[in-house]
Amino acid sequence: MAKQEDQFKKVLSHAKEYGYVFQSSEIYDGLSAVYDYAQNGVELKKNIRDYWWKAMVQMHENIVGIDASILMHPTTWKASGHVDAFNDPLIDNKDSKKRYRADVLVEDYREKINEKIQKDITKAKKRFGEAFNEDEFRSTNPNVLRRQKQIDEITAELTRVQEENDLEGFRNLIIDLGITCPVSGSKNWTEVKQFNLMFGTQLGASADSSTQVYLRPETAQGIFVNFLNVQKTGRMKIPFGIAQTGKAFRNEIVARQFIFRQREFEQMEMQFFVKPGTQKEWYEKWKETRLKWHMSLGIGKENYRFHDHDKLAHYADAAADIEFKFPFGFKELEGIHSRTDFDLSQHEKFSGKKLQYFDHEDNTSYVPYVIETSIGLDRMFLAVFSNSLQEEELENGSTRTVLKLPAVLAPTKAAILPLVKKDGLPEIARKIVDDLKWDFNVVYDEKDAVGRRYRRQDAVGTPFCITVDHDTLEDNTVTIRHRDTMEQKRVKIKELSNIIKQEVDVRSWLQKMEA
Ligand code: GAP
Repeated sequence: MAKQEDQFKKVLSHAKEYGYVFQSSEIYDGLSAVYDYAQNGVELKKNIRDYWWKAMVQMHENIVGIDASILMHPTTWKASGHVDAFNDPLIDNKDSKKRYRADVLVEDYREKINEKIQKDITKAKKRFGEAFNEDEFRSTNPNVLRRQKQIDEITAELTRVQEENDLEGFRNLIIDLGITCPVSGSKNWTEVKQFNLMFGTQLGASADSSTQVYLRPETAQGIFVNFLNVQKTGRMKIPFGIAQTGKAFRNEIVARQFIFRQREFEQMEMQFFVKPGTQKEWYEKWKETRLKWHMSLGIGKENYRFHDHDKLAHYADAAADIEFKFPFGFKELEGIHSRTDFDLSQHEKFSGKKLQYFDHEDNTSYVPYVIETSIGLDRMFLAVFSNSLQEEELENGSTRTVLKLPAVLAPTKAAILPLVKKDGLPEIARKIVDDLKWDFNVVYDEKDAVGRRYRRQDAVGTPFCITVDHDTLEDNTVTIRHRDTMEQKRVKIKELSNIIKQEVDVRSWLQKMEA
């Protein structure tokens, strides 16, 4: 646990020190759970967004994008169910005065039991080696069976209290499990209350004539209300999808864990409209496709897992999360939801306008069903960033900090370094920058000894360093150094563009999805 916390602290300080993420309004001591992306962070974020957009929109003939407004007609949120049901159950500890999400307290408790099971499995694996059979161990080991039973009972009760909105039952569950406040260590809990997460604001100049509106808590509704506009103007045939990326706002109760849970964040969502009855098959297809997208970045299969929802949201008939192993454990990174015809039907009802699709093949009209894929851009940023941050022991006994970002996502693809600030080397380096910058984000750096410059670029995550030295003057060659292997090669200046392209080109990364 302490190791996890250490790693998380390193992530936070590295993100600040190397210009990735700053606390918002830091000079005023910051605003809780609101962050700013700095000069490198904004590039990484853009590259993740572009990588998603390429895979989800531009690589699919039947998926198009939109950019809807953050402010929407207030009835949207009545229809979607957010005004009445977008709540989190909260509970306060009377001694520490800290506020928690009741469901998160129970889920964290359950996860700790799960971690104990995992530990037993790891130990047994070591002991039995090749002969180890995990399924058999899980179904026969008394400790694992007892713990699994406990997990199942907690899950069943958690689902029940959530589905029945049994707030007293929720509190009893926390008390019965003996859950203590992480700050005060006490079990002195208040009642559980529901808290609506939407930020409200006023539209209009005067208090009398103003209308209550909301900052959107998800981007999805901007897609639903535009469903027919896009379908008609784009002559889209079912099945088809509409995607968008953009800001969403939630007044989160528990707003810790850096950019993992923010009050202002960005989503990348795609709603895929299908014929009723085919939703199950499309749901499975999108689960598979989305996992492949993650795998294409090479972050490691062991860092991902699916979690099927025990409690379905009011709009869903199936839902799963793709969870990622963040520095604080496995947590939701992306949701894949089979949303039925709930949203479109609700908007039909509240707007009085038909939102139906006429199927020329069957000569029938229907409200399509929807499969949604929804990923938080900031969470993806944290997943990539935290996984890439590594400390390596080098052969000479020293250590180096290196940010091994997938090259396709790295903010800067190459740093061009004149060995010295004289003898015409800066001029050649500048010429290389001027040529490469048409295709790649590159930087020029002449400050400090070249070894220090390499370390700085390693820590920022730049895949290539290109050094111009006195031999360059003779033969037009430079040294290209690879961030991950630290291997150095002598190459012709005119070959640089191709070498960089091979490693950072979106095509070669996304093609891994097809493998
Ligand atoms: N349209 C469906 C929807 O919004 P969600 O599970 O509430 O579903 C989707 O959110 C994704 O948005 C999550 O998987 C997560 O990555 C991201 N997300 C949600 N709340 C967030 C927050 N407070 N801060 C950062 N990301 C968040």
